[in-house]
Amino acid sequence: MTYVVLMGGPGAGKGTQAKRLRKELGLPQIATGDLFRENLRNETELGKLARTYMDVGELVPDEVTVAMVKERLSRPDCANGALLDGFPRTINQADALQTLLAEMCEKVHIAPYIHVNPDILLKRLAGRWTCSDCGHVYHVLFNPPQQAGICDIDGSPLYQRVDDTEATQKRRIEVYFEQTAPLLDYYRDKELLVEINGEQSIEQVHEDLVQAIRNTD
Ligand code: AP5
Repeated sequence: MTYVVLMGGPGAGKGTQAKRLRKELGLPQIATGDLFRENLRNETELGKLARTYMDVGELVPDEVTVAMVKERLSRPDCANGALLDGFPRTINQADALQTLLAEMCEKVHIAPYIHVNPDILLKRLAGRWTCSDCGHVYHVLFNPPQQAGICDIDGSPLYQRVDDTEATQKRRIEVYFEQTAPLLDYYRDKELLVEINGEQSIEQVHEDLVQAIRNTD
C-alpha cells in the first residue's frame, strides 16, 4: 500500500498532478476540496455547511473533514493506498490521519511538497478553468484548452470556481501560511517531506514527483 500526502499552497498544482499520478500509480485521488464541491452540487447538509467556509476561503472544521476522509478511505478503491490532495491541512488533521492509518496498520509513505511562490500562486488561481464533467484543470495562459471554454478530454464546458474571486484567493493563501504551512515541519521531522520545484513545467513537476514516490518503494 502507498499513501501519498500532496502538499502545496492553493494553486501549487496538487490537483493537476494528482490527476496525472493516479493514472501512473494506479491509486485513487482523494481531494477534500473536490469532495466538498461534490456535496455542494448535490446540496447535501455537508455541502451547505462546507459552503459557508469555502466561499470565504476558510477551512472547514477538522471533525467534519476527518469524518469525510475516514469514510472515503474505507471504500474498496483505496485497497492499495491513496493520493491525498488537500488533506491534511492542519496539525489536528495530520494527527487524525496518522491514527486512522495506524488502525489499518498503515502509515503515510511520503509527503511531496510542491513549492510555488505566493505571487505565482495568485496568477495560477486567477487563470484557472475546470471541466464541469471530468474535473480536468486548465489555465488560460499556462495550460490552455485547444478550444476556449471547452474540455479537450470530453468536450464539456469549463467553469471558474466560485472560490477563485480575488478576495477569497488571497484569504486562502493566508490561511495556507497560518494553518497548513506548519505541516511542512511536521512531515520534515518524520523524514517524509520531499520538496519539489513547482515552478517548472507541468511535465517536469510530474516526472520529479514520480521519481520521488518511486524512491520510497
Ligand atoms: P481545494 O479545492 O483543495 O483548493 P486549494 O488547496 O486551495 O488548492 P487548489 O485546488 O486551489 O489548487 P491546486 O494546488 O490543486 O492547483 P491546480 O492543480 O488546480 O480547497 C478548497 C476549499 O475547500 C478550501 O479553501 C477549504 O475551505 C476547503 N477544504 C479543502 N480541503 C480541506 C481540508 N483538508 N480541511 C478543511 N477545509 C478544506 O492548479 C492551479 C492552476 O495552475 C491551474 O490553472 C493549472 O492549470 C495551473 N498549473 C498547475 N501546475 C502548473 C505548472 N507547473 N505551471 C503552470 N501552471 C500550472
